[in-house]
Amino acid sequence: MNVDPVQPTSPEPSQRNCRRCGRLRALTVLLFLAVLVYLAFRFTRDVPVTYADAVEHMKYGSTGGERGSGVPVSLWKTLPELFREYLPGDGLPAIGFIYEPGKDLPVGTSRRNVMGIDRVFLNCAVCHAGTVRDTPESKPRVIVGMPANTVDLQAFERFLFACAVDEKFSAGRLVPEIARRGGEDWFNRLLLRLAGISLAREKLLLLRQRFSFMEREPDCGPGRVDTFNPPKVLLNFRMDLLSTNEWVGLCDFPSIWNQRKRQGLWLHWDGNNNSVQERNRSAAFGTGATPPTLDRASVKRMEDWLLDATPPPFPYPIDRRMADQGKPIYEAYCSRCHGKDGTDFTGEYVGQVTPIEKVKTDRHRLDSYTPELCANQNLLYAGYGDERFSHFRKTWGYANQPLDGLWLRAPYLHNGSVPALRDLLEYSTNRPPEFYRGYDVYEPKRVGFVWNIAEEKGRKFFHYDTRLPGNGNYGHEGREYGTDLTAGEKDAVVEYLKTF
Ligand code: HEC
Ligand code: HEC
Repeated sequence: MNVDPVQPTSPEPSQRNCRRCGRLRALTVLLFLAVLVYLAFRFTRDVPVTYADAVEHMKYGSTGGERGSGVPVSLWKTLPELFREYLPGDGLPAIGFIYEPGKDLPVGTSRRNVMGIDRVFLNCAVCHAGTVRDTPESKPRVIVGMPANTVDLQAFERFLFACAVDEKFSAGRLVPEIARRGGEDWFNRLLLRLAGISLAREKLLLLRQRFSFMEREPDCGPGRVDTFNPPKVLLNFRMDLLSTNEWVGLCDFPSIWNQRKRQGLWLHWDGNNNSVQERNRSAAFGTGATPPTLDRASVKRMEDWLLDATPPPFPYPIDRRMADQGKPIYEAYCSRCHGKDGTDFTGEYVGQVTPIEKVKTDRHRLDSYTPELCANQNLLYAGYGDERFSHFRKTWGYANQPLDGLWLRAPYLHNGSVPALRDLLEYSTNRPPEFYRGYDVYEPKRVGFVWNIAEEKGRKFFHYDTRLPGNGNYGHEGREYGTDLTAGEKDAVVEYLKTF
C-alpha cells in the first residue's frame, strides 16, 4: 500500500497560534474550575455563629430559621436607618428590642452564614427573654426564660411591611446604602442587586397579604402575639373564611423555665399539648425553622438548658412573717391547681385544664384554637419519623400551670390583662380597666411592672384597653380564686407568692 510520507514541515502560522490558544484554553478551564469550586464552597456554606455559654446560646443561638427565612444582616441594619419614618423612635429599641452592650444585633436574634451571605433571624429569646429595672435610672437586667415584656413583634412586622410597600425598597436605593456602611463584598452586592432585594420585597409583600387577618384583631402590643392563627396560614387555611369567634387569638408570652418538671403536664395556655419536645418544635416554627431547616443539635442545646433552668428569686425585700401567714391560705385555696410552691409542682389538678365555664376568663384565645387546626397540626413533621406531631388536642378551658418565677410573669392571665398580682386577687370590677404595657421598671409592692406610665424618654408604651375583644380582664374570680379573702389575707398571699 502506498502511503504518502508525512512531510515534516514547519508549523503554519495558524497552528502556532493554536498552541498558544491551547494554553489559553487550559487556563480558562482551570479558571472556570476555580470559580466553580469557589461558588460551590460559597453556595453550600451553612455556618451559624455559635456560643459556648448556654445562656448566650439561648439569647443568640440559631434554631436554623435563617436558612429559609434569614434576612441579610446588612439589610437588617439598613432598614431602620432608611425607613425611620415607620418606627416610633430611634431604631429597633423604639419597639422594645433589647440591645446588650457591645452587640450589634438584639437579644432574640441569631446569625448564620448561608450561601456566603450573613443572615439574621429571630430565635426563642425574642419572645422568651425580657428585662427588669429597679428604677428608671438602673441598668436593665436581661433575664432569659421570662416572657419578653418589652418587644412589640407586631410593630416590627408592621415596620417591615411598611418598608416593603415603600418605593424606596429597591436595589437602586438599598444596595448603595449597604455599600456606604461597608456591608457585603462586591459579589454579594451584585447578588442583592440582581435578585436578593426584589426577592426579599416579594416575600414581605406576600407575608403582608397573608397576615392581613391580624388587622381584624386588637393590637398585640409588647409581650403578646396571636399564637394559633399564624399556623393556620402556614397550613394554607382560607383565613377569610374563619368563623368570627376564631379571629382573636391574642395571648401573653409565657415563662419557660423548669421544663423537666413540666413533662407530661398539659400546657400552652389552653393545655393543648403535653409533650415538652413537641411544644419546643412547635415553637420553632415561630423562629422560621421548618422540618427541613431546623438545626436539631442547636435546638437540643436550648431544650436541655430549659429542662432545669430556674427563675431568679424575687430581688426585693419580702416580709417573711406576712409570707408565713399567706402560705396556709395559698395551700388551702390555690395549691391544688397551681402546685405546692414555686419549686414543687405537685397538686391534684396541676397541668390539667379548668373548663372555661368555671374559670370564666376571656375565651378568645381558647376559641382561636380549633379541632381542624389540631387535626392538621398532627400532620406536621410527617415523614420525620418519631418527630411527627401527635400530642395536640382541642380543649375547652385554660390550663392550671405552676407559678414558678411568678413575679416576672406580669401582667397576669393568658392575655396579660391584669397588670399586678395584687389586682388579680380582686374582683374584675376592681381591676384596672386600662393600663400601659412594655415598661420594664418594677413595682415590688403590688408585684408587677409599673403600668401607669405612658411614655419614657420618647419611648411610648402600649395602651391596653381591657374592653376590647380578647383583652377581657374578667374571670378567675370567686371564693376558690381568692377574691373573697380579706384585704389582709390577700396581701399575705401576695407576699407568699413573692417566694415562688
Ligand atoms: C413569636 C414568639 C415566640 C417564639 C419565637 C417562641 N415562642 Fe415559645 N411561646 C410563645 C407563646 C405565645 C407561647 C404560649 C402559646 C399559647 O399557649 O398560646 C409559647 C409557649 C412556649 C412553651 C410552653 C410554655 C408552657 O409552659 O405552656 C415552651 C416550652 C416554649 N414556648 C418554648 C419555646 C422555644 C424552645 C422556642 C424556640 C425554639 C420558642 N418557644 C419560641 C411565643 C414564642
Ligand atoms: C380551679 C383551679 C384554680 C384555682 C383554685 C386557682 N387558680 Fe389560678 N389559675 C387557674 C387557671 C385555669 C388560670 C389560667 C387562666 C387564664 O389565664 O385565663 C389561672 C391563672 C392564675 C395566675 C396567672 C398566671 C400567669 O402566668 O399569668 C395566677 C397568678 C393565679 N392563677 C394565682 C392563683 C391564686 C393565688 C389562687 C388562689 C388564691 C388561684 N390562682 C386559684 C386555675 C386556678
